[in-house]
Amino acid sequence: MSTIEKITLSNQIKIDIDYWLKKFPETQRQSALLGALHIVQDGHQGYLTDSLLEAVADYIGIPKIAVLEVASFYMMYDLKPIGKFKLYVCTNISCQLRGSDQIMHHLEKKLKIHPGETTKDGMFTLKEFECLGACTGAPMMQINKDYHENLTPEKVDQILANLK
Ligand code: FES
Repeated sequence: MSTIEKITLSNQIKIDIDYWLKKFPETQRQSALLGALHIVQDGHQGYLTDSLLEAVADYIGIPKIAVLEVASFYMMYDLKPIGKFKLYVCTNISCQLRGSDQIMHHLEKKLKIHPGETTKDGMFTLKEFECLGACTGAPMMQINKDYHENLTPEKVDQILANLK
C-alpha cells in the first residue's frame, strides 16, 4: 500500500482559501473548492499532487475523494507536471467557425506536440478547451491567466516569441 507524503499548506495559501470559505455558509465549505484548487495549483508549479489534494481536503474539511472528483473533472486542473506556459486553445463553435482548427494545427506543428502533451523542454503544454467566454474575440486562446484573441498563425508566433 502506498503512503502519501503529508504536505502543509503555506499560511498565505490558507489565507487565500479563507477568502473563498468566507463566501459560503459553514455547512457549505465544499463550495469553496474550485477557488481553493486554483490557489493551491497556482502556488505549486501549476499542478496538483495527491499530497496537495489531501491537504486541501483536510483544510476545507471534506473527503479527499470529493476533492479528487472535482480536480479530475475540470480541465483547468492538472494532476501531473505541466509546462511553464499552458496554452488553452478554444475549439468551441465560435472559435471553430473563425479558424481555431488552423490555430491548433499551427501550434501542433510549431511545438511538435498534440493536445494534452508538453514540449520536451518543459516550456509549453497544449490543451484543447471548451468555450472560454471570449467568443467575440474568436479564435482565441488562454495562456496561463491571459487571453489572446483574434488569433492568426502569425499572431500566435509573435505571442510565443514574447513569452519568457
Ligand atoms: S467559442 Fe471560443 S471563446 Fe467562446
